[in-house]
Amino acid sequence: MRILLVGDVFGAMGRTILKQELPRLRQQYGINFVVVNGENIAHGKGIIEKYYKELLALNVDVVTLGNHAFSNKGVFQFIDDAKRLVRPLNYKTDVPGVGYVTVNYNGIKITVMQLLGRIFMAGAEQLTNPFTVCEELLNKLDSDIYICDFHGEATSEKNAFGLYFDGRIHIIVGTHTHVATNDAHILPNGSMYITDLGMVGALDGVIGVNPDPVIHQYLTDEHIRHLPMEKGRQQFNALMVEINEQTHKITKYESINLIQK
Ligand SMILES: [Fe+2]
Ligand SMILES: [Fe+2]
Repeated sequence: MRILLVGDVFGAMGRTILKQELPRLRQQYGINFVVVNGENIAHGKGIIEKYYKELLALNVDVVTLGNHAFSNKGVFQFIDDAKRLVRPLNYKTDVPGVGYVTVNYNGIKITVMQLLGRIFMAGAEQLTNPFTVCEELLNKLDSDIYICDFHGEATSEKNAFGLYFDGRIHIIVGTHTHVATNDAHILPNGSMYITDLGMVGALDGVIGVNPDPVIHQYLTDEHIRHLPMEKGRQQFNALMVEINEQTHKITKYESINLIQK
């Protein structure tokens, strides 16, 4: 089967690009299962029910979130009923929603989980150790295929996470930086790994945001509200992974980086 993992979809532009590219790629690559990171889908921060439903209407199987999981208060209106929505697993306190879901795909149990990294991450003091939390989760589940969205800033933390869970989590993809890395590879014990999928949205923004206030901030140290970049050139970044349904071995993979010229 073929699984498509899509990086952070950013704002209205991200949603438009996803709607235009996903059906086409699904056909072109024969995709069976789709995981999309939706933490920035509502105006760059968080998610609301309307956009979650739009993702389901595009036949997205699982939507993951990130450090912006609760940035839009609209999430609280539907997160407890959303069966295909995954927020980070490693919060210290009880928060709404779930940190993993298990989906039955043609008799194959696929678990999609999300962990939040702690290095260079605002609010890290509210998080527990993503390595040990993930280990505890794996010990209690008996799924056929495991997919982890490791949402983190530091490449070293993502590398270490990938190598530690190599052979136990079939597909480990990084998200959060919005910049796709050119390191998709199969780890020594067989897991698929990429440090960051990248994003879906504006190409000429600063990780999706209108650059002017951001540059002003770097020049003056004065914070101005950031707004999503909603025009100009587009980018769509994802990873296609083919996995054998019986052996659960990765048989093929391809980074898909559609960068408008
Ligand atoms: Fe993001
Ligand atoms: Fe993030």
